[in-house]
Amino acid sequence: MTQWCEGETPSITSGELCCLLLSFLPQEECQNYVRVLIVAGRKVFMCGTNAFSPVCTSRQVGNLSRTIEKINGVARCPYDPLHNSTAVISSQGELYAATVIDFSGRDPAIYRSLGSGPPLRTAQYNSKWLNEPNFVAAYDIGLFAYFFLRENAVEHDCGRTVYSRVARVCKNDVGGRFLLEDTWTTFMKARLNCSRPGEVPFYYNELQSAFHLPEQDLIYGVFTTNVIAASAVCAFNLSAISQAFNGPFRYQENPRAAWLPIANPIPNFQCGTLPETGPNENLTERSLQDAQRLFLMSEAVQPVTPEPCVTQDSVRFSHLVVDLVQAKDTLYHVLYIGTESGTILKALSTASRSLRGCYLEELHVLPPGRREPLRSLRILHSARALFVGLSDSVLRVPLERCAAYHSQG
Ligand SMILES: *[C@@H]1O[C@H](CO)[C@@H](O)[C@H](O)[C@H]1NC(C)=O
Ligand SMILES: *[C@@H]1O[C@H](CO)[C@@H](O)[C@H](O)[C@H]1NC(C)=O
Ligand SMILES: *[C@@H]1O[C@H](CO)[C@@H](O)[C@H](O)[C@H]1NC(C)=O
Ligand SMILES: *[C@@H]1O[C@H](CO)[C@@H](O)[C@H](O)[C@H]1NC(C)=O
Ligand SMILES: *[C@@H]1O[C@H](CO)[C@@H](O)[C@H](O)[C@H]1NC(C)=O
Repeated sequence: MTQWCEGETPSITSGELCCLLLSFLPQEECQNYVRVLIVAGRKVFMCGTNAFSPVCTSRQVGNLSRTIEKINGVARCPYDPLHNSTAVISSQGELYAATVIDFSGRDPAIYRSLGSGPPLRTAQYNSKWLNEPNFVAAYDIGLFAYFFLRENAVEHDCGRTVYSRVARVCKNDVGGRFLLEDTWTTFMKARLNCSRPGEVPFYYNELQSAFHLPEQDLIYGVFTTNVIAASAVCAFNLSAISQAFNGPFRYQENPRAAWLPIANPIPNFQCGTLPETGPNENLTERSLQDAQRLFLMSEAVQPVTPEPCVTQDSVRFSHLVVDLVQAKDTLYHVLYIGTESGTILKALSTASRSLRGCYLEELHVLPPGRREPLRSLRILHSARALFVGLSDSVLRVPLERCAAYHSQG
């Protein structure tokens, strides 16, 4: 390492220094990648990797050139732009980030900060809580913050397998006392089942993207499998998610034992609290011993229909947004599915069997000959437009494309 001479202050940020020291890193990873971008009220909250030295800023909607506040981005944004992280700001103004907390990316956590509640995280270096997770989405729904992710399955004991999960914590959690200090006491997670039914179901295990439809209490997910390049879209009802969380847990007595079902001590857990003597707030009603060992649910969350809404062999889906369209007789869910080659599939998801999974259109938004994965997909309802994020540009595509069709047929 370079020795700096006394009196000579290097005009270099710690992040740039890291990148100099780690000169084996590609130059492009040392730039500032925005990994959190949330509009909350009149504020835009954003965090970037900032040359492996994460930083967050708040700005005002309408004047992004002015920074209102700048804070440390550690535990809110990953160091490494390649890590898959997510974050949400709750209605109470708290930031729930699901990311890695350390430089090397070995310390994943779901971390709450910036609100009136104490900062809390998932248990550190405990692969039963989170095992090499890729975080996909986070939502603030009712009493809970929900997280959608894929991770190595701890309960699967023959070989490395990835499962998709939904995890949740109570927003009123204040952490434990003596046990689980500064740690969630309400963390729970369940597997998401997106599969093709059969004698041996074919599982799409790897969640890539999720979309919450609050009007319908539905979460859509895009799933792939690493066995072959196949993909599927499954929808999960919030009531089915609650059902899995109200059911039994799965527990491992010792590191060599199998994970076995064990009854849920509080089957309809609603984030109740127990009065605590002393200056602190009430603890949540879970026993801290239970909270430490019971967090994996035994039952998987089953999708709305046994068959996925949409499947494709030999195409890898990456992103998804859903538009609700009221037709004369039915409410249609119109899915816009981004693929790894940069096309967008438009498909229908309805209760009607004959129309389910029916493809309406394949949109080629990239110039001819260009193939690259989409970076993001968003709907702006007020403009009836789809915004497509690419590595170097943003495209705007109208949702209704009747002009593209010249005849009724
Ligand atoms: C936005 O903020 C900049 C920097 O503080 C300021 O110079 C500019 O006048 C502001 N623009 C508006 C429209 O308020
Ligand atoms: C993040 O997710 C993408 C898409 O699934 C995947 O290709 C990539 O390997 C993931 N990043 C890491 C660091 O695992
Ligand atoms: C997933 O769903 C399929 C089809 O309904 C079912 O056969 C299978 O048992 C389910 N798997 C789990 C783990 O719940
Ligand atoms: C979701 O669950 C609720 C309550 O169980 C049910 O009334 C509703 O029809 C379900 N929605 C779908 C799309 O299955
Ligand atoms: C703590 O519990 C007591 C008794 O149940 C209740 O009256 C009080 O509102 C609770 N305080 C908080 C901060 O939840």
